[in-house]
Amino acid sequence: MSATAVVGLQWGDEAKGKIVDLLTDQHDVVVRYQGGNNAGHTVMFGGNKYKLSLLPAGILRPGVVSVIAPGVVINPSALVDEIESIRKSGVHVGDNLLVSDRAHVIFPYHIEEERVLESARKDNPIGTTMRGIGTCYRDKAGRTHAIRVGDLYHASSFRQRLDEIVAQKNAILTALVPDFRPLNARSIYDEYSRCAERLAEHVVDTTRYLHAALDQGRRLLFEAAQGTLLDIDHGTFPYVTSSNSSACGIHSGSGVPERKITRMIGVAKAYTTRVGGGPFPTELHDEIGQHIRDVGHEYGTVTGRPRRCGWLDAVATRYGARVSGVDGLAVMLLDVLAQLPELQIAVAYEIDGGRTVEFPSHVETLSRVRPLYRTLPGWRKDISGARRLADLPPQARAYLDTVAELVGAPVQIVSVGPDREQTILDL
Ligand code: IMP
Repeated sequence: MSATAVVGLQWGDEAKGKIVDLLTDQHDVVVRYQGGNNAGHTVMFGGNKYKLSLLPAGILRPGVVSVIAPGVVINPSALVDEIESIRKSGVHVGDNLLVSDRAHVIFPYHIEEERVLESARKDNPIGTTMRGIGTCYRDKAGRTHAIRVGDLYHASSFRQRLDEIVAQKNAILTALVPDFRPLNARSIYDEYSRCAERLAEHVVDTTRYLHAALDQGRRLLFEAAQGTLLDIDHGTFPYVTSSNSSACGIHSGSGVPERKITRMIGVAKAYTTRVGGGPFPTELHDEIGQHIRDVGHEYGTVTGRPRRCGWLDAVATRYGARVSGVDGLAVMLLDVLAQLPELQIAVAYEIDGGRTVEFPSHVETLSRVRPLYRTLPGWRKDISGARRLADLPPQARAYLDTVAELVGAPVQIVSVGPDREQTILDL
């Protein structure tokens, strides 16, 4: 029995999808356990580009079962659209996709509420993806206004609950936004019932399925969305997403005990990016930041927003690696740094005259730190054709050694380009 987990160690967008995609042929089941359609994976293979949001990357491999577990929040029409669009590109979606009946459902009022709450923060928004993720998780924790996937199949109680909830949401939203156009419970009910019908063949008790899969010795692969620094409990609160996007969410989000995980891979970019608000100590506002954004195509998969770019922050990444408890690292997008004459890695922070290698727990403290850098020579050579560690220039190998030393975990995988083949595996 083996279970592998792939988690991001930074603020998301670490290219986890590529690692998950690569590992799927050694696994039987791929599990998404948190987040929703705020996530975006781009997977390249066979010259084709596949954009995935709610669907686990396992969907692209014949014979692999993809599971959307209870900890995920689901916008049913977004899921139906994604299934249809991936089918159009020739990918089979049938009994290879299982959706938990325990997962919570995102409704239009979640998106409306998020819009109001974000604009109320005026010039200090969280910078969310506006997909209703946080407001849906809030209702899940609050229980009184929550609806789960399984509820969609109990027509009369679903309709009654929706009537009550929509009336209350309309009252709240109209109080906050006087010209708010009230939502219509009946049309939401109709739309969601249609989607539920389309999804019915996939909806099961995924927890029971995963336990049976473990008993049968099937190999599980857990695919995180976002990154450890966006974790609701351990990230840069409140500039986080509303789920446990670190490895901490695997157990609660899937129902599979964490002790079953035999390999934890932490994915980190060779530099750092962030979308949305919140402190980012190593952010570059200069032409180097723009160079990284251009070469790395650092624009959001879901929202198209330009990502904020900066040097690798080993303090933050080491913290992420410790919270998620990684065995090894996958260092992504190393090729993006190829043309830079010199590279910097933050090795510590200076704060209030002192030096620390600990990641601050309060964002105000984090926004005041000054990163202390180690400068390394660049290699100024195209490395996109490298397939073995020995193919890399010595400066690139030294960079990887420094990352391993500072983050505190061995580098096991290096990515030098978007394609499956552009990977150095199992170093
Ligand atoms: P939410 O998840 O839409 O609530 O957004 C909360 C924060 O998480 C914002 O800063 C988003 O930009 C960020 N975020 C959400 N999903 C992703 C992702 O897949 N990659 C990177 N950042 C994300």
